[in-house]
Amino acid sequence: MTLTNLTVRPHALVASWSNHTSAKFPTMWLRDNCPSGLHPKTRERMLDLLTIDEAPVLREAQLDGEFAVLTYNDDYISHFPISLLSTHRPGQETFDAGTMAPKFWRAELNASNVPRHMATLIQIDDQALTAWMHDTAIVGLTIVEHLQDNISAGVKIAERIGFLRRTNFGTTFEVINKPDPNNLAYTSVALPLHTDLPNQEVPPGYQFLHCLANEATGGASLFADGFAMAEDLKAEDPEAFCLLCDISIPFRFHDGDADIKIHKPVITLNDAGEVIEIRYNAHLAGIFDMDSDIMPSYYKAYRAFMAKTRDPKYGLTIKLKAGEMVVFDNRRILHGRDSFDPATGFRHLHGCYVDRGEFTSRLRLLAHNAEAT
Ligand code: OGA
Ligand code: ZN
Repeated sequence: MTLTNLTVRPHALVASWSNHTSAKFPTMWLRDNCPSGLHPKTRERMLDLLTIDEAPVLREAQLDGEFAVLTYNDDYISHFPISLLSTHRPGQETFDAGTMAPKFWRAELNASNVPRHMATLIQIDDQALTAWMHDTAIVGLTIVEHLQDNISAGVKIAERIGFLRRTNFGTTFEVINKPDPNNLAYTSVALPLHTDLPNQEVPPGYQFLHCLANEATGGASLFADGFAMAEDLKAEDPEAFCLLCDISIPFRFHDGDADIKIHKPVITLNDAGEVIEIRYNAHLAGIFDMDSDIMPSYYKAYRAFMAKTRDPKYGLTIKLKAGEMVVFDNRRILHGRDSFDPATGFRHLHGCYVDRGEFTSRLRLLAHNAEAT
């Protein structure tokens, strides 16, 4: 598709393409985004917007090869790459290699269809890394297999994406039955479906749980897609869905070293009304403090979501084997485990997190590199 025509309008430039589409670029936008306003090395904006007249006027626009040459009334001239105009049409979302639309799933996905990827390939090959990350972004849950039997093996895979997110439980954490636990995960009790650390202002993004041993009776892992549950709740009970989006509830974790709390809603939407985050952890939900008049309907809504976390329509059960690592979007996929009997064998998971920002950054870099080769 080629840019065929530029028309100067009183306060804008109208560009038309060969596929009969057009876009209107306000003159202020053109001055604000003139490529000469960027630092040549860092590509950060150096231009001070307030040095530009409040109502800049475009006098002339010409096509010159790969550039649109724009001359303004103050004799300033911009050379705009045509590709920039094509990809940044006002009102149109720009393509982002870091953003992938999630594909919601329910129990019928079946544990056997959770995408599996090989640790050794991810470690050495960017294409394998990209394929695994795409599945992890879209499904929200993948399994990496054939990890080496040491606690740094899972961390090394996570670090192929980016740096680790440190929390009050450390940069990495050992999920084992501990004598003096500060977290239910460090016991042998069942953990109902939950998201980790909803008490943080921004809960950790992707979670990595590398299984080093799972010899005890019990201890299977549970997963469910929180976005699918939210979508169904919206269809079945829109009022409950709205309450879970609109009303913030307290989440708190506290021990001798930390007291971390926040008020946030269970469901967060983006500007387009799409679900982008679930915070759900019955153990870390604090004491509800919304207006008492709203409480009965809030409890009804909260219980409706909670009931979905117990509904077999949504959950998958996977008994991890030593050498496997589950990777999932902790702000989307709820996870849990069955109780286990520590007298029957050892169970040891090694965990860490990488935030969504590092994940999307790596996806963009991988896409740029793939384009360049
Ligand atoms: C956790 C957790 C699950 C498991 O550590 O947050 O949920 O399988 N662990 O032990
Ligand atoms: Zn957890």
